[in-house]
Amino acid sequence: MIRVGLMGYGKAGQAVANVLKADPRFELCWVARRNSSAEGETLPESTIPVIGLNGVNLSDWLDAHPVDALVDFSKPDAVFLYGEEVRKRELMLVSAISSYSEDELDYVRSLGADTRVLCSPNITVGINFLILAAKLLRDIAPFADVEVLEQHFREKPEISGTARKIAQSLSLDDSQITSLRLGGIVGHHEVIFGFPYQTVRLIHDSIKREAFGTGAAFALSQLAACDKGMYTFDDLLMQKVRAQLMQA
Ligand SMILES: NC(=O)c1ccc[n+]([C@@H]2O[C@H](COP(=O)([O-])OP(=O)(O)OC[C@H]3O[C@@H](n4cnc5c(N)ncnc54)[C@H](OP(=O)(O)O)[C@@H]3O)[C@@H](O)[C@H]2O)c1
Repeated sequence: MIRVGLMGYGKAGQAVANVLKADPRFELCWVARRNSSAEGETLPESTIPVIGLNGVNLSDWLDAHPVDALVDFSKPDAVFLYGEEVRKRELMLVSAISSYSEDELDYVRSLGADTRVLCSPNITVGINFLILAAKLLRDIAPFADVEVLEQHFREKPEISGTARKIAQSLSLDDSQITSLRLGGIVGHHEVIFGFPYQTVRLIHDSIKREAFGTGAAFALSQLAACDKGMYTFDDLLMQKVRAQLMQA
């Protein structure tokens, strides 16, 4: 069983905690936020402690509450608080932070020299699989027309970052993304391949933030079998695909 400490207990962190708590492959040992609201705070319906990083010495805390891995859903600068502990203790790190600066990213990369690190600005298994499958089909059928369709709730103003990432990965530009804003749609991404005599649609629909937890769990389980280094979600997916092909 992999012992996990979770950094960040906001909108995403709470959903990730739900998934890790329910997965028998992991023991969620503690959760850290910036400020713990109450003395002795725990996760709902459990004894898992929630600590405020501003109030603890992380090294002492890790001595008393050891883990094998950290999962980060907090803020970009948090990596400077825990990075050297990750390096010294060779903890696995799954960082889902989507807005690192170049300096922060360089530091995260440097941790990969001493331990196993996964860093992914998009951590859902579904979207990463969709991108992998779309790239494969693009390679098989470079003559097909390709467009990206994204649908989100009415108030979302900008083109979705995920749609842009999908488009980039297929060498499409933003003019090949169609955005629809409708009611309360959480997130729909579709890659449409128009062949002369057939149409292929790859579709991903977001349902709940717990999907981030499923992605973090996948990353932890795959990282556990890796050597030291810095990995992308694509690397871990490909590792799984290669293993399946070898079996076949
Ligand atoms: N890769 C992905 O697919 C993906 C998906 C979703 C979110 N994210 C990333 O996850 C992060 C959190 O998103 P969110 O929507 O959950 O944000 P949020 O609701 O604002 O929650 C942020 C959490 O981080 C904690 N925090 C802030 N600074 C910290 C620090 N220096 N040390 C430790 N904890 C700190 C906050 O503590 P308090 O509770 O004390 O304020 C809070 O619990 C963002 O960086 C976002 O980019 C990534």
